[in-house]
Amino acid sequence: MISYDNEIIQQIEADRPKIPVGLLSREEKDRLIERGFVGLYRWYVAKSQQQRNWNPDNSFDWRNMRQDHSPEMIKILEGFFAVEQYVPDYVTTLLKVIRQSHGRSHFHIRWGSEEERHAELWHNAVLFSGRRSGDWLRDYMQELRANMWQLPWDDPVHMIFYTVFQERATQVNYLNTAVIARGQSDLEMYKNSEDPVLAKAAMTIAADEAAHYNFFLEGARLFLYYYPARSIEAIHDVIKYFAMPAGNIIPNYQEFSELVYKSAIYGPREHSKDVVAAALKNLGIAGRKQLEQGIKKTRLVPDNDGNLRETAIFDGIDFPSIQSAVKRIFGRIENYEKETGFWDVDPTHFKPNYA
Ligand SMILES: [Fe+2]
Ligand SMILES: [Fe+2]
Repeated sequence: MISYDNEIIQQIEADRPKIPVGLLSREEKDRLIERGFVGLYRWYVAKSQQQRNWNPDNSFDWRNMRQDHSPEMIKILEGFFAVEQYVPDYVTTLLKVIRQSHGRSHFHIRWGSEEERHAELWHNAVLFSGRRSGDWLRDYMQELRANMWQLPWDDPVHMIFYTVFQERATQVNYLNTAVIARGQSDLEMYKNSEDPVLAKAAMTIAADEAAHYNFFLEGARLFLYYYPARSIEAIHDVIKYFAMPAGNIIPNYQEFSELVYKSAIYGPREHSKDVVAAALKNLGIAGRKQLEQGIKKTRLVPDNDGNLRETAIFDGIDFPSIQSAVKRIFGRIENYEKETGFWDVDPTHFKPNYA
């Protein structure tokens, strides 16, 4: 009898599909994503307060900023100032979409406060460059704010992936600006552009953008792990239609975008290599081709319960690395909760989505 049972078990095992099978209900997945976001948000705020608690007015020696920057550099600073002017729209529009999520909405408000100081920092950089007056900046600000930024996507899943790529792109912009301000650009027009005040400003803001990128990346991993099919479609859409925020409403944006390209700050090469390829790699997706293949596979399998269809994509993405990344997220939350005492009263536990 025993050997007969074993035979059956072996047969069942042999017939079992070699793809992971979804274990969790939608409610459970949503609960885990939300717990993950709340945990990450708490961890983020504590870290931000300890390590990046700078002030746009008094953390920089503005009076010693160079007054003889090239007209190109002034235009670049103005462009950064312009993009960061839409913070009220960046905050309010998305907040309405994610307001029911404690973790996402509270993080978003915190994120907005960090973006607000970026707007102030670039304001100060333009003002202390000595090339634009306070009145000029006020007028320009009003001109910019006459237009309102609209969400590129109006659902929370697309937006988490949009912010991943957007924050990474912003970080690359500021890092490459810091290269010029450190006097390390090879370009003729930036030969004598060394300015320690501007370099510190660009590096400080780039560190914020890196922290934003990492937060959104962790959040994106939660979605990718618990809702892979929906997520890869969203990633694909976001990459396909990606545009930098407010590019369509800032006056003369084209000129600015050509200038950052000519300045080796940001162009198609940086976009595809340092942003798209880098972020896909961080998400455990080998490249755009694998993303498209994964989407094709999910469309071949009918889906009634939200799980079966999603299991068809795993040879298109590095699923084990996503799973270990998500376990790491929950591990980090566990450490934070043990430090603060939450663990004793309301612990956040990881649950695998696949067997
Ligand atoms: Fe920013
Ligand atoms: Fe940011």
